[in-house]
Amino acid sequence: LSDGPLKGKHVLVTSGPTHEPIDPVRYIANRSSGQQGTALAAALRDLGARVTFVTGPATTPPPPGVTVVKIESAREMLAAALAALPADAAVFAAAVADWRVKNEAGQKMKKQAGQPLPVLEFAENPDILATISRHAGRPPLVVGFAAETEKVVEHAQAKRARKGCDWIVANDVSPATGIMGGSENAVHLITAGSVEDWPRLPKDEVARRLAARIATELTGKPQ
Ligand code: C5P
Repeated sequence: LSDGPLKGKHVLVTSGPTHEPIDPVRYIANRSSGQQGTALAAALRDLGARVTFVTGPATTPPPPGVTVVKIESAREMLAAALAALPADAAVFAAAVADWRVKNEAGQKMKKQAGQPLPVLEFAENPDILATISRHAGRPPLVVGFAAETEKVVEHAQAKRARKGCDWIVANDVSPATGIMGGSENAVHLITAGSVEDWPRLPKDEVARRLAARIATELTGKPQ
């Protein structure tokens, strides 16, 4: 562990997509690369934090020097996040599937001539950010992300209240921005009393700035 301002602090980071099983060999997924969460875990590590990195099956490999907990489904991610507590801060950068398949099959579903096509029913997944924000063992600083395509700040402020977190990092993921899957991000940092518009920056730099803000918040000292 480096000897930075976050030495002695434990930070939980969730990252990547989740996979929601249909049967033992099929799943529903999303296009999250895990880039922003991975960059954040690395930046927090670089400031000396002990990082627990709970990740779904992302395309970006997890950073070295953090405790990696690999999960697949949202329910597994929630269990892993709860198991990681206590933490001094938690950052929820994962793109968690809102729904899982309700009628998950225990065996591989077979194509059978003359049989009706399968119909997938959905059930709502737990909201990990909201659950931990309202948990008895809530970390002192809880940060969520909000990917929006319109009214970015307004929607993110509403999300901050709804989820019960301290900060929301909001970004515009309209296809024209190239942010989803791209290497840059343009974010707004929304806190209880302020909205900061950050310039478009490489995701690594967004991560470094956010990690520095987290360090300031946890230590009371500007970085
Ligand atoms: O509601 P929405 O998915 O837009 O919220 C995004 C934020 O909530 C992100 O920080 C994401 O990691 C978190 N989230 C979660 N569990 C869910 C859905 C979202 O932790 N089931």
